[in-house]
Amino acid sequence: MKVLVTGAAGFIGYHTAATLLARGDEVVGIDDLNAYYEVSLKEARLARLREHPGFTFERMDVADAEAVAAMLARHRDVVRIVHLAAQAGVRYSLVNPFSYARANVGGVLALLEAARRLPALEHFVFASSSSVYGLNTTVPFSVGDRTDAPASFYAATKKATEGTAHVYAHLYGVPTSGLRFFTVYGPWGRPDMAAFLFTRKILAGEPIPVFNHGEMRRDFTYIDDIVAGVIGCLDAVPFDAALVPPFRIYNLGNNRTERLLDFIAVLEQALGRKANLDFKPMQPGDIQETYADIRESKRDFGFEPRTTIGEGIPRFVAWYKEFYGV
Ligand SMILES: NC(=O)c1ccc[n+]([C@@H]2O[C@H](COP(=O)([O-])OP(=O)(O)OC[C@H]3O[C@@H](n4cnc5c(N)ncnc54)[C@H](O)[C@@H]3O)[C@@H](O)[C@H]2O)c1
Repeated sequence: MKVLVTGAAGFIGYHTAATLLARGDEVVGIDDLNAYYEVSLKEARLARLREHPGFTFERMDVADAEAVAAMLARHRDVVRIVHLAAQAGVRYSLVNPFSYARANVGGVLALLEAARRLPALEHFVFASSSSVYGLNTTVPFSVGDRTDAPASFYAATKKATEGTAHVYAHLYGVPTSGLRFFTVYGPWGRPDMAAFLFTRKILAGEPIPVFNHGEMRRDFTYIDDIVAGVIGCLDAVPFDAALVPPFRIYNLGNNRTERLLDFIAVLEQALGRKANLDFKPMQPGDIQETYADIRESKRDFGFEPRTTIGEGIPRFVAWYKEFYGV
């Protein structure tokens, strides 16, 4: 089966593509390899994917409608799509909001306009984010909760991604699932996120910024659990014919909420070093707590996250040390 993975050089895209290839799927990967974070890390992930004969890669901007249509015209036999390419990160959306509008809103639109013409497309799965819950204060976050009060432009573009995908499911009957990821971490992770950022600073002996004076909670989700959820969802076809439009939304989180300070303590232990904490006020655009209610994901595709931060963080640290030769 041929699967298109957008954002294949990214953290979640790399792991998803690698798992699909390992089970024998063919994967077409696209990514623009932009410099939001170190391109060498994206290249290193890609180099590993290129070792598989079933992998082909095209560098392109997913918001370039012409390029995406031409690519899918060359791959008319794509059966499933995992759309992960996006400008990620809450904080940077305060600095460069226009890049989010282009990649996230323009990207899903360009992709769906081309994808709806594929003759054999049976499932379009896309990344959303826990950030769509915005100013919600009721935890855990359930997929039925309102998501009309985003706190950052990043969250607003993810909400727009969900809306756009819903339109295409409604107008053209494309079976579609949106996955709201909750703070994903693990080997080959993202340098702008807590596990990576803190590890780098702790090893360099630099202070780590701890926002809202440490009064933050996150549902930290290990990458292998996320990939099991992405692929479990991708395989959950065909949809029940009674589901009109064929559109579903799921939470993919660990279903535990951890104090940020506990997360840091686990990291300190794994690194064998104490962190120098630089307590700071709440950052604009951020939310204080995330916590996923995953009952629909469990029901529909057996999603069962297993990895605690006590297990996942040491695995991340081991990868980090090996990759950077620490
Ligand atoms: N990692 C998390 O905790 C998390 C949480 C919630 C949602 N998400 C979402 O999951 C998806 C994957 O995130 P990730 O953590 O792997 O991030 P990532 O930045 O590592 O991966 C995204 C990839 O998309 C590529 N990309 C960005 N804009 C593009 C464009 N216009 N055209 C083509 N490629 C483009 C980037 O180069 C990158 O390789 C994103 O949609 C993100 O918003 C991630």
